[in-house]
Amino acid sequence: MALEEMDAFFNRRADIYDAHMLQDLELDAFYREITDCVQPTGKDFSLLDIGCGTGIELEGLFAKYPGMRVTGVDLSAGMLQKLKEKFPKKEIELICGSYFDLPFASDYDVVLSTYSLHHWNASQKLTLYQKVFKALKNSGVFINGDYTCKTPERERYFQDELARLRKQEHLQDNVLYHYDIPLTANTEQTLLHAAGFQKVCLVREWENTSILTARKCL
Ligand SMILES: C[S@@+](CC[C@H](N)C(=O)[O-])C[C@H]1O[C@@H](n2cnc3c(N)ncnc32)[C@H](O)[C@@H]1O
Repeated sequence: MALEEMDAFFNRRADIYDAHMLQDLELDAFYREITDCVQPTGKDFSLLDIGCGTGIELEGLFAKYPGMRVTGVDLSAGMLQKLKEKFPKKEIELICGSYFDLPFASDYDVVLSTYSLHHWNASQKLTLYQKVFKALKNSGVFINGDYTCKTPERERYFQDELARLRKQEHLQDNVLYHYDIPLTANTEQTLLHAAGFQKVCLVREWENTSILTARKCL
């Protein structure tokens, strides 16, 4: 199996992406739960969506909070184009680039991520979670709904498999490739605490997916 670069992988699949998530994988209940996790104090709060893709997670949120101010970050221009077409009347700031490299503002009420971060290892995630921590207001919340695995052994398996593929394909260290390396919900909680979040909750856990919320203050 040849690994594809992350942006190219999603550019190639942007046309069929929503149907895959909502019809093949039937993830409507997941996205409804994400909408319920966002409980802002005001109606026109600010939300940073990292790995926003086509913005499926924003559909329920815009229906509930039409005044919400959104910044979306994604590597794939094709996925962002679909998002733009979906919300033609909304003023959404869209930035095409990697959430590892781009600077974030520091006044968000909510930082959201759905099904994007399972491509990264614990060390990469810790760096990103520290960045998310700084991007939030003191009252803010980070919501991460993502693919997770159940045991440390599975976690290890995915990491080893990626290392094997990287070696086999002579892949470059500084290029982002598409390969799933989910961590356990437990490791996710440990990383969020290590990044500085004081209140971390596992809101919901399915067989392969978890939703976690992390707050700066108790
Ligand atoms: C499976 S899609 C999820 C999209 C959307 N959040 C959803 O729930 O449908 C993963 C998205 O993360 C984006 N992504 C992956 N790594 C990224 C990175 N380092 N920086 C920005 N976006 C990234 C991909 O381009 C892709 O659009």
